[in-house]
Amino acid sequence: MRILSVVGARPQFVKLAPIAHAMQGRAEHLIAHTGQHYDVLMSDVFFRDLGIPAPDFNLGVGSGKHGAQTGAMLAGLEEIIEGAAPDCVLVYGDTNSTLAAALAAAKLHVPVAHLEAGLRSFNRRMPEEHNRVLTDHSADLLLAPTQVAMGHLANEGLGARSILVGDVMTDVLFTVRESLTRTGAALPHGLVPGGYYIATIHRPDNTDEPVRLAAIIGELAKLDKPVLLLAHPRLHSLAKQHGIALQEGSIVLNPPLTYPQLINAARHSAGVITDSGGLQKEAFLLRVPCTTIRPETEWVETVELGWNVLVSSDLTQLAASVHRGAPEPTDATPYGDGHAAERSVAAVLATFGPQPAQNP
Ligand code: UD1
Repeated sequence: MRILSVVGARPQFVKLAPIAHAMQGRAEHLIAHTGQHYDVLMSDVFFRDLGIPAPDFNLGVGSGKHGAQTGAMLAGLEEIIEGAAPDCVLVYGDTNSTLAAALAAAKLHVPVAHLEAGLRSFNRRMPEEHNRVLTDHSADLLLAPTQVAMGHLANEGLGARSILVGDVMTDVLFTVRESLTRTGAALPHGLVPGGYYIATIHRPDNTDEPVRLAAIIGELAKLDKPVLLLAHPRLHSLAKQHGIALQEGSIVLNPPLTYPQLINAARHSAGVITDSGGLQKEAFLLRVPCTTIRPETEWVETVELGWNVLVSSDLTQLAASVHRGAPEPTDATPYGDGHAAERSVAAVLATFGPQPAQNP
């Protein structure tokens, strides 16, 4: 059986890693990279550090407005899918690359499996919310990370195509954490365990409007410990455009980290401040308190269990949230047991692979 995985943006490379490993010896697995993310630190280092085979196809689409970027991917992926003739196209998460791949495959009548299906923010200003909903409704197999996601899919009439597999980001985090514990790793800028926070900001709602971005940077600059700000290229270019200095007060500016470096920096930090979906969950899995600069989250379990606090309209609440202590310890495992990739591959093979002969 031939499966084509389509990825393009940083969080998708992380999700691809455990899937690519679980595919070995079980299916012919091809990888198409759309080129949505292309900087070495946003793409290549993930393939290198997470042992992902080099992509079989690279569209090199690059940055652009949503329509132009998604359209270029759609046209390019149509050619790739026609040529590769996979039995199934596997798409990941909620980026423009996800939607383009699902649409290209569906129009060619190639079955689509969606990994990380069923997440909802119910915030229709987010491009990712449209990408998820449209992808879920065009896919044939929905691989859900959580029980909450299964509930959303059932509510939208998609329960019969859905299966709870757990979260593949748990798989990859457990593997990397174990290797860090064996090998150890230094912290950047001479930071010491427990003596700093880490922060990432990249969502359009936080970066695109100068007053909002300046207010977030101003609050980070006032925190009581150094704040390692891991600047996504979008943050850099918009801060420059708006004339906002990022290296202010407590802020220690740093380029994006590789995945093992990020997990190492997060697990030794006193807290995480982010608008990323993945990092909220990584903080929870590492049991580090997180403050999320968004009005809502798809990962509601992190909030319910007390490890994540949302701060959005009133940014003056940020310091109080970041300075709060750790909540009650928990051994809850809403994101699975670290074997989600094996379950996902098994589900794809069982659904789209050769079916066992029926007894006459
Ligand atoms: C995308 C995803 C978002 C995900 C994020 C992870 C969509 C709609 N959004 O957002 O869900 O959380 O990836 O990082 O798909 N840029 C570079 N080099 C790169 C990549 C981007 O310089 O390698 C700059 C460009 O100026 C680009 C901007 O970053 O215009 C935004 O990149 P884009 O891929 O459009 O969206 P992200 O904000 O990264």
